[in-house]
Amino acid sequence: MQKFCYFVLVFSVSSLVFGHLKCHRPKHTTLSSIVEHGYPAEYHRVITGDGNIVVVFRIPYSPKLHNMNAKRPIVLLQHGLMSSSDTWIASGPNNALAYLLADAGFDVWIGNTRGNVYSRKAKKPSWKFSWHEIGYIDMAAIIDYALWKNGQKQRSLHYVGHSQGTTVFFVLMSLRPQYNEKIKTAHMLAPVAIMKNINSKCLRCIAYVCRPGSLMNYLLSDEASITWKLELIMKFLKKYDCPLLANIFHEKDMNKTANNIAIRHFPSGGSNNQILHYLFNIRSGEFRQYDYGPRKNIRKYSSKRPPLYPVERIKSETHLWYSDADTFTPVVDVLTLARRLPKSILHRMPDPKWSHSAFTVHMQVRRFVNDPIIAIMKRYEQKKPKKHIMRNIRYIL
Ligand SMILES: *[C@@H]1O[C@H](CO)[C@@H](O)[C@H](O)[C@H]1NC(C)=O
Repeated sequence: MQKFCYFVLVFSVSSLVFGHLKCHRPKHTTLSSIVEHGYPAEYHRVITGDGNIVVVFRIPYSPKLHNMNAKRPIVLLQHGLMSSSDTWIASGPNNALAYLLADAGFDVWIGNTRGNVYSRKAKKPSWKFSWHEIGYIDMAAIIDYALWKNGQKQRSLHYVGHSQGTTVFFVLMSLRPQYNEKIKTAHMLAPVAIMKNINSKCLRCIAYVCRPGSLMNYLLSDEASITWKLELIMKFLKKYDCPLLANIFHEKDMNKTANNIAIRHFPSGGSNNQILHYLFNIRSGEFRQYDYGPRKNIRKYSSKRPPLYPVERIKSETHLWYSDADTFTPVVDVLTLARRLPKSILHRMPDPKWSHSAFTVHMQVRRFVNDPIIAIMKRYEQKKPKKHIMRNIRYIL
């Protein structure tokens, strides 16, 4: 336990020091990867409600289908914590979700969170945000932008999120429920909301050290998070044998080439508050808004404790893709969440060793995740509009 706390201290202090180092512009971008594989790619800068800039990539159509003038249903892909749009293209054209969707006739949009390696463009970056703001402000902006820019008068889109990409969906859809009308089907890969049953001394220790009101919390909050190299972190993890964190980079059955692409900018940047917010939820066991400590909470929320996210309001068709081996999303917590969502469909991964990042870079990701998701979206698109069905029924009667 002491060892872990020491690790946390070193980790956090280094984060303070290195967080301020300038981040270099990535050489190999999502954009160039897409182009290298012969697909059309676009780069969009979306201005969010509070004046931030987030970068969104797009594969507008498939070169195999030549469908630039056909109706192409929009789909939005959103990556996880400290990750980037690279997640969705890492397994290449034959396996990665972004390419498969394009080849299935979709207009594919790939988001980036504010402050990550691609979105680090704001003139005066402020790090006073957690995934709350990313969901509430940025995801809303990206959804509206994609619907508008597609130009085919589509009113709704399909959504796929991984890890934090699911958390931001839950935030937006519970607090701005009118956005549910803009969702056709939603796919939560490794859904992170309730984190009550996380069984890891390592994380619980970190959560304790960084609790609201603690010195570590004071030092870390509102700062840019670590941008130094993954190898350094891996060294730490191996040395202190933190099996939970190793779960993110777990090696078995993983497409190593793809993983190297997915994590080429890892950790791709953001605010420490994103991590802190998760740690608060681990401690409280509940899916709550950001905890500023009792005094500021009263000013902000008119209550000492931050309010719960009202997930009962998420009316979208929400598919939860989860696994037994994913330490960040204990099965019990996923099931609790599913019971609270009005329209949830559960998909348990058959492989008991399926880990957190397996949802994007597993050798079998196409077979067990990507193809089934595309089948669900296609089924939705092929459904006749309700009015049609009603008329037929009346005719038969
Ligand atoms: C693994 O990733 C590489 C690099 O993107 C890709 O070319 C290959 O098809 C992938 N293989 C599988 C089985 O996902």
